[in-house]
Amino acid sequence: MIQNLVRPNINRLTPYSSARSEFKGKAEVFLDANESPYETGYNRYPDPLQWKLKQAISTLKGIAPEHIFLGNGSDEAIDLLLRIFCEPGADHIIILPPTYGMYRVSADISNVAVKEIPLRPGSFQPDVEAVLAEADAHSKLLFICSPNNPTGNSIRPGLIRELTKGFPGIVVVDEAYIDFSAQESAIRLLPEYSNLVVLQTFSKAWGMAGIRLGMAFASEEIIGYFNKVKPPYNINQLTQEAALKALDKQEAQEAQVKQLLGQRTLLQQYLGGLPFAERIYPSDANFLLVKVEDPTGIYNYLVDRGIIVRDRSRVTLCEGCLRITVGTPEENERLFRALVEFE
Ligand SMILES: Cc1ncc(COP(=O)(O)O)c(C=O)c1O
Repeated sequence: MIQNLVRPNINRLTPYSSARSEFKGKAEVFLDANESPYETGYNRYPDPLQWKLKQAISTLKGIAPEHIFLGNGSDEAIDLLLRIFCEPGADHIIILPPTYGMYRVSADISNVAVKEIPLRPGSFQPDVEAVLAEADAHSKLLFICSPNNPTGNSIRPGLIRELTKGFPGIVVVDEAYIDFSAQESAIRLLPEYSNLVVLQTFSKAWGMAGIRLGMAFASEEIIGYFNKVKPPYNINQLTQEAALKALDKQEAQEAQVKQLLGQRTLLQQYLGGLPFAERIYPSDANFLLVKVEDPTGIYNYLVDRGIIVRDRSRVTLCEGCLRITVGTPEENERLFRALVEFE
């Protein structure tokens, strides 16, 4: 029962009822929301539940709009999950480091404890037994990032299933990089597991990080809780319009993903040939984790050349590593030329 995992105050909550959600239907004169009557293109509040956009996403993903929540980035969905399920000072979340940093930051902001079960060194796959042994009635959320940031690998589907089946709380599969992966989305597992939430985003393969739009896919019951706690107009009209436009040009997005995947392979080959590159980890994402002899030296050298990569060398299991995002062919070429000169 999902309801039993939800914080009691959220179950009891009477949500804010906005003017635009109280009236549905057709009308000509809107004097209900204290908006300006003067037309600017933006004088009205946006659709609080973004039905038109959800319809378009529904068609793309093959899942009904009632199973979709849209957030101000997936970061908003992560924060709301903490606020729906985790009682501060009592419950905890489980994360699998090295992984995306916002799970811990969101938990810290909410005063929710974080238990860490590191991925297995080498394979970067979860230790299912260790995770399930650690889990108890206060383990409300388990974050699985697949493909994982910063390691780049996908988590094996069998392990995602085992974890979702055995975990007493909600399992969140963060698929921010799924469009760069050959692996199928965990969205198709939703009918089987009522405790599963899948996150995706417009920030990566869709090239729309600036509009802040994240997606959560889950049971209608879980989506209902998201809608209950979200700020009424969390997705602004500009974002809704820009996303609809982007979705209209799906071929352009697919072509860019294809080019990035080609560049990823090329960059893997380039970097593999450099004598100071000790290991290029396989990647299902739009970045590469690269182990080098002198990460900080290379990082600073590249900064001097106007090229910024991410120094991950102080992250557990990523000692000595830089994380390099795949750029345009020209950008990758420029990075490579700089690195050859570093030799
Ligand atoms: C794994 C992962 N999840 C979520 C995000 C953030 O996504 P959004 O821009 O939708 O908030 C990132 C961004 O780097 C990420 O790496």
